[in-house]
Amino acid sequence: MRLDATQISRDKMGMSDRPATPQGPNVRAPEPLSGHFRVPGDKSISHRALILAAMATGTSRITGLLEGDDVLATAQAMRQLGATVCNLGDGVWEVGGCGPAGFKTPTHALDFGNSGTGARLVMGVVAGAGISAEFTGDASLSRRPMARVTKPLAQTGAQIEDNGTGRLPLTITGAAQPLPLDVAPEFASAQVKSAILLAGLGAPGKTTVREKHITRDHTENMLALFGAKISSQRSGAENIVTLDGHARLRAHDIAVPGDPSSAAFPLVAALIVPGSKLRLENVLLNPQRDGLIRTLTRMGANIKRCNERTEAGEPIADLDVAYSTLKGIEVGADMAPSMIDEYPALAVAAAFAEGTTHMAGLGELRVKESDRLAAVEAGLRENGVNVEAGTDSLSVSGGTPVGGACVTTHDDHRIAMAFLVMGLATQNPVRVDDTAMIATSFPNFFEAMAGIGARFDV
Ligand code: S3P
Repeated sequence: MRLDATQISRDKMGMSDRPATPQGPNVRAPEPLSGHFRVPGDKSISHRALILAAMATGTSRITGLLEGDDVLATAQAMRQLGATVCNLGDGVWEVGGCGPAGFKTPTHALDFGNSGTGARLVMGVVAGAGISAEFTGDASLSRRPMARVTKPLAQTGAQIEDNGTGRLPLTITGAAQPLPLDVAPEFASAQVKSAILLAGLGAPGKTTVREKHITRDHTENMLALFGAKISSQRSGAENIVTLDGHARLRAHDIAVPGDPSSAAFPLVAALIVPGSKLRLENVLLNPQRDGLIRTLTRMGANIKRCNERTEAGEPIADLDVAYSTLKGIEVGADMAPSMIDEYPALAVAAAFAEGTTHMAGLGELRVKESDRLAAVEAGLRENGVNVEAGTDSLSVSGGTPVGGACVTTHDDHRIAMAFLVMGLATQNPVRVDDTAMIATSFPNFFEAMAGIGARFDV
């Protein structure tokens, strides 16, 4: 359902009473953002914690779980497969695992809502578990390509019924004795890699994934924590992951770190609203996820890492960030896997930088929750930014964006949040056509942003 347009402004300044003046002078002087920002739990790690805990023998306690709609869909899917999944409150969850061969064929379809990660990873689980399940999702997920996962899974002996669409809804029936795979995926995709590895848990012998460009390695890190024998051989950007099959996973407690993809929004907000100074707490800084921070730093952003530590096998730190004068740069295709979900936020930062930022290697953005390349291009252009998208690239020429337009989000949470943030610093308020889907990844976005002084009129 569409909500009424959301107007972005600062309550205290009474901005909502002011008419938008798309060509006018700078009519707004946003107050600086300040304070501490507790970043919600990492979405990728939350999915994996629920899935591996459900496959393990024993009870795992997960703290800091992201309670967004995407992750809740995975929790429900694990229940349908036979695991006990209990929400103890305050982000603490307990999962009683099914152990090897413990999953059962669910009586109803597994509905993953908007979540590509949940759907694709659990496809691997089902293929390796010798059970059968139907996979469904919302309109956005039903448009996204699934053959990148089902094609390799078919090589385990699993049967795939998708009427030749390569899309949801589809049914997977795992082979009674799945075969181990040795695959070089066509796409740099952690979801594809993870699905193959999760299927490999149920196969004999070694499963190998050969990545041309390393992607986020949370599945590998967490499989090791749960007792699987897994190794990675890296050479430059190439990465070969090998997993011993018929693994017996043992329950493990997981403290989920803060999501760098959600941290991107307050981070960029602080960089573009003059005078801002924030501390972002407990942010995951896995080298396969910190591309945005490295890129913004190259653009001149004042971001300092402090209190560096390790949790759940992952590097974490707090980030001190202050308003900065940014300059446009070249962002190579090699950066894409380490910041794939952060390009909408980066494009907004680039709209406030001096000069042009050119981003290459963005083909995968066309098959995310929306065609993000098209959505970002349209949203920036309508708000007065000089922007050009190619088939897999984006050029943004920065300055002081005028704002004043209503952005079509295409039901995409990251498009909505990126343009809400942009509206904090444009000359005129920016509107977005819907905000309901923000709950998929950042359920308390508005409260959290209000806590640092950002007020939105909803
Ligand atoms: C994810 C991997 C990425 C990312 C997605 C989460 C994961 O997708 O865009 O939001 O948790 O494995 P791809 O692996 O398809 O690039």
